[in-house]
Amino acid sequence: MPAPVICVSHLGKSYGPTVAVEDVSLEVEEGEIFGLIGPNGAGKTTTMECVEGHRKPDRGQITVLGLDPLRDAAALRQRIGVQHQEAHLQKRIKVWEAIDLWSALYSRTVDTGDLLGRLGLEAKRNAWFMTLSGGQKQRLFVALALIHDPEIVFLDELTTGLDPQARHAIWSLVADIRSRGKTVVLSTHLMEEAERLCDRVAIIEHGCVIEMGAPAELVAKHCPERQVVFTSDGQSVSELLKRELGSDSVVSNGTTHTLRGRGEEFVTDVINLVAREHIRVRGFRTELPNLEDVFLKLTGHGIRD
Ligand SMILES: Nc1ncnc2c1ncn2[C@@H]1O[C@H](COP(=O)(O)OP(=O)(O)OP(=O)(O)O)[C@@H](O)[C@H]1O
Ligand SMILES: [Mg+2]
Repeated sequence: MPAPVICVSHLGKSYGPTVAVEDVSLEVEEGEIFGLIGPNGAGKTTTMECVEGHRKPDRGQITVLGLDPLRDAAALRQRIGVQHQEAHLQKRIKVWEAIDLWSALYSRTVDTGDLLGRLGLEAKRNAWFMTLSGGQKQRLFVALALIHDPEIVFLDELTTGLDPQARHAIWSLVADIRSRGKTVVLSTHLMEEAERLCDRVAIIEHGCVIEMGAPAELVAKHCPERQVVFTSDGQSVSELLKRELGSDSVVSNGTTHTLRGRGEEFVTDVINLVAREHIRVRGFRTELPNLEDVFLKLTGHGIRD
């Protein structure tokens, strides 16, 4: 197993009386996309800022690429890239000017023309920042975070406020960063984003990590239930289903039948049963649990409640 590139142990950070991070411990491995997920105010940004060396923790130890983010800040800045939540630039700075300005901060940079091309910003080289769309602005911030070819990239709420199309474009861009061998740490409160993108996630609530792992593993562990809902005009379907699957697993409401079960094979078993018994089906859908359900199960509330 590759050595972790980030180690956080019992991190704590308060702003006056507000406890932003209570107790966060986690390790991020080289080459993975690691997500911090949790509701507004959970402590995601504060955790990231401590790891980046932009904030001084009250408690705990952090190493990033074997360095101390505060003591070795200058060395680390050359090796990590950061996109801040709600970042802004001057209204009338042009895209190429921002790229030039950022390039000057680093001893080594990538080919910036190539970078703008990869991020789909070539045609916007001469555009003012204020004339870019939300998605273009975010892509510019990603470009600025990647300009020095960093080993680790931090992306804080990268897709918040973007429409689904722009969001998908950013997702493929983040996957592309990983395919270049980089490590990505991102924060999001979009469970779909975490599920699609992240190799592993830490669920953060009230400044504590309450669960950590691969999204599919967390779903399998906490929400193994699966549901099939189908409609059929057939006679005695409910009785047949209850006989085969057990009466606790079947709820019938007129011609609509809801079947609940566990495990990978459940949906296949239902399909086989329907075929074997020649049940005529008018509608059929499966409802698989996701990270949102895991969050609800663990916290008792939804991520946006
Ligand atoms: N600079 C600050 N001064 C005072 N309190 C702060 C500051 N930054 C954050 N906080 C508080 O610390 C807590 C954690 O905030 P943080 O920004 O880390 O959460 P977050 O998980 O990133 O939330 P969001 O999803 O809204 O970005 C919140 O209660 C917030 O109000
Ligand atoms: Mg935040």
